[in-house]
Amino acid sequence: MSIKQGCKLNIKINRKNKIDGLVLLDNIELNSIKCVFFDPQYRGVLDKLSYGNEGVSRGKGRSSLTQMDEKTILNFIKKIDKCLCPSGYLFLWVDKFHLVEGVNPWFKGTSLQCVDMIVWDKTKIGMGYRTRRKSEYLVVVQKAPLKAKSTWTNHAIPDVWSEKAVKNHPHSKPIELQSELIKSVTNKGDIVVDPASGGYSVFEACKLTNRTFLGGDIEFGEE
Ligand SMILES: C[S@@+](CC[C@H](N)C(=O)[O-])C[C@H]1O[C@@H](n2cnc3c(N)ncnc32)[C@H](O)[C@@H]1O
Repeated sequence: MSIKQGCKLNIKINRKNKIDGLVLLDNIELNSIKCVFFDPQYRGVLDKLSYGNEGVSRGKGRSSLTQMDEKTILNFIKKIDKCLCPSGYLFLWVDKFHLVEGVNPWFKGTSLQCVDMIVWDKTKIGMGYRTRRKSEYLVVVQKAPLKAKSTWTNHAIPDVWSEKAVKNHPHSKPIELQSELIKSVTNKGDIVVDPASGGYSVFEACKLTNRTFLGGDIEFGEE
């Protein structure tokens, strides 16, 4: 059980918890988790790559979601660093803007380091000023000490992955890819954390792989 002893909040495993992810992370035992997924509600794309009508005619679903500024994202990462066990993994979903800007400064002062990256080919063409978006990026981050052989069991996962998302949230992520990653870095029954779960695709991946889900979203879930 990785929820801190004495936690007075109604946080449950294998449930959609409606909670601020920062509070959820504060209530997880230190150095206890092998695998965390984090899919921030980026403000960057709306600020920097917008067309000017975001939230008016286009992208209404996205704009109404609680956005995370840079400071909030850094706060999440610091707390994730604390709850990951040594050599545990953070799978960080990154949008095109942050990929180009670089995410490395976010890991300054933590024990986390980028070790790999996967391109998700969404199979569906979206919008874009020049080229049109068809991909998203998953940065693979590991807590020190960096170890590949003893922590990653599936060496058949390609770094470009095509999968159509099951859409129940504006930012639904691929369940099969997340399942493969979970199987590669955890064992049956292990806890997988997702502090900003959205449509709970990581929860679905946990059900498919017999892992224990611990996660929630500030807007979606049970109080
Ligand atoms: C990009 S979406 C996650 C999508 C998810 N990975 C999926 O597959 O459906 C980010 C989510 O973060 C949530 N969010 C924003 N601020 C939050 C916070 N402080 N704590 C928890 N969730 C937050 C938003 O409500 C949104 O649903």
